[in-house]
Amino acid sequence: STTAADPAVENDLVLVSNRQPYSHEYDDDGDVVVDRPAGGLTAGLDPVMQRAHGTWIAWGDGEADREVTGDDGTVRMPPEEESYALKRIWLSDDEVQAYYYGYSNRVLWPLCHGGVWQTEYANRHWRRYQQVNGKFADAVVDAIGDDSIVWFQDYHFALAPRQVREQVPDALLAHFWHITWPGWDTFRACPQAADILEGLLANDLLGFHVERYCYNFLDCVDEAFDDAFVDYDDNRVQYEGHTTHVAAFPLGIDANSVAQSAADTDEESWRSFKRDRGIPEESMVALGVDRLDYTKGIVERLKALEEFWRTRPEWQGELTYVQKADESRSLIPEYQNLQSNVEEAVERINERFGTDEWTPVVYIDDWLESDALNALYRYSDVMLVSALRDGMNLVAKEFVASQIDDDGVLVLSNQTGAHEQLGDQSVSINPYDTQEFANAIEEAVTMEETERHRRMRTLRERVADADLDAWMADVFAEIEEIRENRTVR
Ligand code: G6P
Repeated sequence: STTAADPAVENDLVLVSNRQPYSHEYDDDGDVVVDRPAGGLTAGLDPVMQRAHGTWIAWGDGEADREVTGDDGTVRMPPEEESYALKRIWLSDDEVQAYYYGYSNRVLWPLCHGGVWQTEYANRHWRRYQQVNGKFADAVVDAIGDDSIVWFQDYHFALAPRQVREQVPDALLAHFWHITWPGWDTFRACPQAADILEGLLANDLLGFHVERYCYNFLDCVDEAFDDAFVDYDDNRVQYEGHTTHVAAFPLGIDANSVAQSAADTDEESWRSFKRDRGIPEESMVALGVDRLDYTKGIVERLKALEEFWRTRPEWQGELTYVQKADESRSLIPEYQNLQSNVEEAVERINERFGTDEWTPVVYIDDWLESDALNALYRYSDVMLVSALRDGMNLVAKEFVASQIDDDGVLVLSNQTGAHEQLGDQSVSINPYDTQEFANAIEEAVTMEETERHRRMRTLRERVADADLDAWMADVFAEIEEIRENRTVR
């Protein structure tokens, strides 16, 4: 539907995200080609920007990007429509190291997911994070007019809202925090806790996926600042003369297009995928799709599968697990460790239970054709989502939206934001409880057909109703309300 983000159409939208919606690359002939957004948020926001004719500010990377970008740092996007400006922020190697790999992904990422022991506070990281946020803030200040809405995405920009506010006191600023927000007992470990909170409190609207993260944030503010007024009933903070509204907006996916991709594949693609990967034709398939991140609980999942095959030997050869793994942030030691731990676990399990006819775990860490991936999402019998902590988890929703035959079962960690919407119709697990997890796998693979259909139909309706358009409409309705209240005053 085109109505969802209509409020934004009337206003100039300035969007800020670390990842850009389109990147330019050189092909084999040395010609510049455009890489389209693969999916997820950038793909979802692109149509909004096309309608809003605004400016999208993001990290530009690589020679081809530079070649096609004008001296003012902007390039019109998407290629044919040229309906909005993509403003690219160039970062030096040192900035990338310290702002992206450093403070963003070695401090805020682990901290917000509750991994206090995994944080690495280097002064250099913090200084660069401040400075790079300043670069983005300056670009925002250049791009905005009187009626602009500025919309920051995620934990890469905790300081930029305040940096913008200092230069443009009346700016309308919104922010969506895509990861969890931890409790005060975790957050207070951060030496820069007050700066991070103050940066975010410069926003007029701060969004999280679920109420609990909103509550955690409010509580952190309450604990950190004596002079902040925190209204828990109205989800509002007053601090230094400014009001910040805090609200939950559970992110959805473009369910229609996911269902369409599922419909575009067929059982023949599925059979040929199984043949190519050596999966016995009659074997059931459990699926996991993850960025190789320590928050995703991949090792815990493999442990539960190992326990499942050990205690239920009749399932050896009858259930195959396919792990699609996307390399991520691999310059960071914790990510390298995770990668080798996952690979070791896969090898161990395959040696322990594998036979000439059957490999228990099919590990795919390279590129996979979209048809094969679509077939996996549609025809796998079970999806295993076992994140140890996850703001939302959109993979769970993508699996559900792909289940156009209502046949599959979702096993879902109770540590994900998605669990609040989907947990009651999934097989719910605590990913740390190996026994329970192994039992859940059994429950999923033996569930009666009528029960499977009933649950999946319910899940599919929920995912379709609370889709990306609905999310966008909710966010912009809230922004409009804040704007109106400001004008009235
Ligand atoms: C998470 C974050 C996103 C990020 C994505 C991929 O979902 O919330 O902001 O883009 O991971 O991570 P990367 O570091 O590759 O952008």
